Amino acid sequence: ATGTEPHPNSGGVHTGTRAAIDANHLRTDRWWLAPAVTAAGLLAFIVYSTWRAFADTNYYSAPYVSPFYSPCLADRCATMHSGPNADLFGSWWGISPAIIILIFPLGFRLTCYYYRKAYYRGFWASPPACAVAEPHKKYSGETRFPLILQNVHRYFFYAALLVAGTLTYDTVLTFRDENHHWGHMGLGTLVFLANIVLIWAYTLSCHSCRHIVGGKLKHFSKHPVRYKAWKFVGKLNNRHMQLAWASLISVALADFYVYLVASGAFDDPRFF
Ligand code: FES
Repeated sequence: ATGTEPHPNSGGVHTGTRAAIDANHLRTDRWWLAPAVTAAGLLAFIVYSTWRAFADTNYYSAPYVSPFYSPCLADRCATMHSGPNADLFGSWWGISPAIIILIFPLGFRLTCYYYRKAYYRGFWASPPACAVAEPHKKYSGETRFPLILQNVHRYFFYAALLVAGTLTYDTVLTFRDENHHWGHMGLGTLVFLANIVLIWAYTLSCHSCRHIVGGKLKHFSKHPVRYKAWKFVGKLNNRHMQLAWASLISVALADFYVYLVASGAFDDPRFF
């Protein structure tokens, strides 16, 4: 025996190197709760964001532009003063301008180390939880197509920096009123501020960011600035899961706020 033959009772994960127990697992706690809640939360966001991304309406009410639609690049956004509209896509772009831009934050989150764990467990049960065997016959990890493409995460990180920069610009513009006079502050300004703080915290807590900041160094003592930055990113990185959820919720809430104001369902309370 080489020690790698499949266990006679079961599929690929029950190899000879694994304890030959009859039960699928020995956990007695509610191990299914976390993946179930995760799957429900992700599903709720997918449904909401798909609806909003394709809605193609109610995404701008001065000075607020929905984070799902920024930067708004199609010519139908030309009247929008709040975002850097480059008219790149012009009139031939017939569908929602959110589709042009959402690919970047979506790709960033889809390939994120935390979200990978979340949806591998929540949707694919691969594995559903620690010490619970997965139902699949084979396991090749992320070594083959298509999952090997998860390696592009580091490039999505750079795109995510641009997205966070754009949303920062949008947030600064919420301090102007609809006539472009500075000094405005509404409830929406606070919603945008909370969102941009969480977006930056999530983006900078990225594992790729930590490596870019502090990786490939032999001696931290010779790179004190990078060492400090690495320690800061490391602290954020400890909270990566929490930041992933908090920023996912905040970006949806910011969009929903713009939807409420733009659709006339709610009047933005103004403090200044
Ligand atoms: Fe989660 Fe990079 S690892 S955003």
